Amino acid sequence: MAKTADYKELLPQLDRERLPQHVGIIMDGNGRWAAQRRRPRLYGHRAGSKALRQVVELGVELGLRCLTFYTFSTENWNRSESEVSGLLKMFKELMIKEITELHRQNINVQIIGSEHELDPQYLKDVRKVAAVSHHNTGLILNLAFNYGGRREIVEAVRKLVQAARIKPELLDKLDEENFSNYLYTAGQPDPDLIIRTSGELRISNFLLWQSAYAELYITETLWPDFGKYEMMQALLDYQGRQRRFGGRKKA
Ligand code: IPE
Ligand code: IPE
Ligand code: MG
Repeated sequence: MAKTADYKELLPQLDRERLPQHVGIIMDGNGRWAAQRRRPRLYGHRAGSKALRQVVELGVELGLRCLTFYTFSTENWNRSESEVSGLLKMFKELMIKEITELHRQNINVQIIGSEHELDPQYLKDVRKVAAVSHHNTGLILNLAFNYGGRREIVEAVRKLVQAARIKPELLDKLDEENFSNYLYTAGQPDPDLIIRTSGELRISNFLLWQSAYAELYITETLWPDFGKYEMMQALLDYQGRQRRFGGRKKA
């Protein structure tokens, strides 16, 4: 499945003034991609990391504000021990390998997700790697790792209840905007566009709160085959949508 089409051919069609502020990506299909090649699942995950790099590069080139990649869900622990340990090892190795270049590109890398289940030393190590980028002012790159949308909401409620012990008025003043400040994505714009590869028609616990009005783009392409060209196609499709947010334009 060699890709010959060049994403640059699509650039003139893109309206730079109407780019989504935040794109969320459910990178799915690595296992099937590997199976088609009779290779182990981890081979697919490695190929998937190359696709991620491509999409980040395009995000920087276009000046996107925020990109969130679903790298490991709170449900992915239910996979074989060897796949889980392989994914954890790969995530840490990639962070160490890529951080210098990401930092050079002024990218702010945030690891968003739950601390539960993870070895504290492991988490400390990967967070330390990401921390060097935290003063960067360019693209916000969220890596949703041990992430679950429901878990995020429950953890937000816990944080809120904790804070309300000291400041009870927080509960009286609670509204949607200030609740969102307890989420992992506090202060970031909600995703305008959510992309899922490999054709599955579900959200699989990704950004449940934040995606309330996100446009959904599902492609049959398996994640390792996704690149700048496919990302451009998704962005162009997004620009053709009519977003209404429940309202109606006056005639
Ligand atoms: C997505 O690819 C990557 C992760 C969930 C970590 P999958 O591993 O889910 O690939 P398929 O769905 O089995 O093809
Ligand atoms: C969603 O993909 C999680 C990630 C991409 C990290 P899954 O492959 O785990 O989702 P399901 O099982 O198809 O819903
Ligand atoms: Mg999958």
